[in-house]
Amino acid sequence: MIGIISAMQEEIQALLNELEHITTTKKGMREYYSGTLFNKNVVLVFSRWGKVASAATTTQLINDFNVEEIIFTGVAGGIKETLNIGDVVIGKHLYQHDLDARPFYNQFEIPILKNKYVATKNPKNLLKATEQFIGTYGDFISKTEANAFNITTPKAILGDIASGDQFISSIEKIKFLNDLLPSTTCVEMEGASVAQVCFEYSVPFSIIRIISDKANDNATIDFSRFANSIASNYALGILKNYFA
Ligand code: ADE
Repeated sequence: MIGIISAMQEEIQALLNELEHITTTKKGMREYYSGTLFNKNVVLVFSRWGKVASAATTTQLINDFNVEEIIFTGVAGGIKETLNIGDVVIGKHLYQHDLDARPFYNQFEIPILKNKYVATKNPKNLLKATEQFIGTYGDFISKTEANAFNITTPKAILGDIASGDQFISSIEKIKFLNDLLPSTTCVEMEGASVAQVCFEYSVPFSIIRIISDKANDNATIDFSRFANSIASNYALGILKNYFA
């Protein structure tokens, strides 16, 4: 069984539409949809926003659904100049940018784990699947939708991701992240907590982040439009190739 998490219903909707033989289980105020997607046994769930919600969901998936792998898919704010709306980051290292227990631990250090980040295991397979999807993205995203966001030739990269319980929409915060965690490519609110739980339970995990905004003044507008209309179709296209 493969667990697939998103933070919002919108980010998972296209997957839900394709899911067959569905059984629904309700736990902890969340619905877990088990079934088959592209002939794989999966359980889909939207965790809601933030690190606590996604950590609780991840723990539930591991303990009650016996998942052997977890994939998180959703949108993120790009903080590198070279990243455009519609590009995809496949997570390499996951940081919690709001974790700061100084003077007891170093800034960003996860207490006891002695590390500032958790690394994903085989991101290259997912990167390859994402590149394959990008080659055919017109099958999943309409021209009108792509044009609305000026998506012409999206790219996929492996990159470090910073998570925190904050929606980032300011140049100052981007600067903070660039100064202190310079390898960060994009920001979101769940990946690093999923990563920490998966690490603690020795479950392999991957993070797919589709750039919906540039974490700047315009972020709230870009984010909402993108998450509603495009994000889950990307996830569908990427996973179709990943599961093939
Ligand atoms: N998810 C998508 N865009 C984001 C942003 N700008 N900040 C945090 N999480 C996000």
